[in-house]
Amino acid sequence: MPRPPTVFVCSACAHEASKWHGRCPGCGEWNTLAEEQRAPAAARGASPGGGSAGRASRPVRLADVRADRVARLRTGIGELDRVLGGGLVPGSLVLLGGSPGIGKSTLTSMALGNLAGAGRRTLYVSGEESAAQIRLRAERLPGAALEVPVLAETDLATVLATLEAERPEVCVIDSVQTLHCADLTGAAGSVGQVREVADRITRLAKVRDIAVLLVGHVTKEGALAGPRVLEHLVDCVLQFEGERERTYRTLRGLKNRFGSTNEAGVFEMRQGGLVEVQDASARFVGEATRAPGSVVLAAMEGSRPLLVEVQALVSPSDMVPPRRIANGIDRNRLALVLAVLGRHAGVGAGTADVFVNVAGGVRVDEPGADLAVALAVASAARGVAAGDGTRPIACFGEVGLTGELRSVAHPERRTAEAAKFGLAPVVGPEAGTLRAALRAALPGRSAARAA
Ligand code: TYD
Ligand code: MG
Repeated sequence: MPRPPTVFVCSACAHEASKWHGRCPGCGEWNTLAEEQRAPAAARGASPGGGSAGRASRPVRLADVRADRVARLRTGIGELDRVLGGGLVPGSLVLLGGSPGIGKSTLTSMALGNLAGAGRRTLYVSGEESAAQIRLRAERLPGAALEVPVLAETDLATVLATLEAERPEVCVIDSVQTLHCADLTGAAGSVGQVREVADRITRLAKVRDIAVLLVGHVTKEGALAGPRVLEHLVDCVLQFEGERERTYRTLRGLKNRFGSTNEAGVFEMRQGGLVEVQDASARFVGEATRAPGSVVLAAMEGSRPLLVEVQALVSPSDMVPPRRIANGIDRNRLALVLAVLGRHAGVGAGTADVFVNVAGGVRVDEPGADLAVALAVASAARGVAAGDGTRPIACFGEVGLTGELRSVAHPERRTAEAAKFGLAPVVGPEAGTLRAALRAALPGRSAARAA
């Protein structure tokens, strides 16, 4: 029997090469190619396209296509349902990524518990934990978490056979990296394995109309471990973010075939599982200090406004180059804002260390955060509290390279949210330039000296 052909697949970009390279020819990453064995291809036909000869099929005009509105399976977790676009779609695959310990198993157990409580057939497949461990977690969770049937298994064939026999409406696979397909070489979690596992589960899910929540690990760099092809295969990619040591977590949609990817939900990890945080703005504003270096950013989490505190510390350094530490915002944005502050607004951080932190462990990945970072750093550098000193000052806006302020999405929603918590006026892009915004937000140097 001929040996199945060998290919080398990149774990970062899924590029396929016929021989091994130290550096992937597709994306340039080092040491990402892994050997994979392919099942021998069926005898190829001699059609002009090079594929096997098939029968022609009749395309259908879009207007004649039947598209029944499917009822969504609500998980009963409002924030999760919203990010999903109204609940799980039967027969769809959702990939839930996040670093270890963030709460993926907790969130999926809670969702299944609610669904089981609502009379849905569910199944929790775990290759990571024993049934006893899963039970111990479920005991801490509210609702019908203990009603969920569980299967602790790593063999893909067994899992597929069980799905076929049990026919759940909703199933969780925790995690896709722990399942192993015996037909393929390679350890569980390798590129080929993960792809094969996801592919076979997808096919069964579509045929049997099972909504599947695939849990996936995220690497240190934040990418979903395993091949990117996984992201193409599934209908929906959700990312669970936050820092393990902090209580707040955000759930974001990165891809959604059935809804918007603009949505995000905020959760808090408590003793009894994850709790939705609906009054996140109130909490963050309540916790905000009025000290120099603190401002409130009127951010957008998807279609929802969210007020978060941005803090900065500027302190003398003996390091060359000095430290630039950013938590919750992009490091490159911090570098850009510091450069513009120095060049166009007369606030040079020079050789000082600069630390910027979004309080509560929240991540804000939007250009509207620039102005908050700039004001917090300027306020810290000058040692002057922003605003009138009695309440925090709210702001938003993108900082341009020439020192101008640029508008960002939903200014009216941001301003309204700030006003709701008594933070008015808001310093925004109407100020025109970063220099003007600084004048509006920070009392002059003379006031600082007088204090
Ligand atoms: P887990 O869902 O196991 O994370 P993941 O599956 O993403 O690796 O939960 C992670 C942490 O949450 C764990 O350290 C324990 C904590 N936790 C609580 O604080 N409260 C709870 O009710 C539960 C179930 C877990
Ligand atoms: Mg887990």
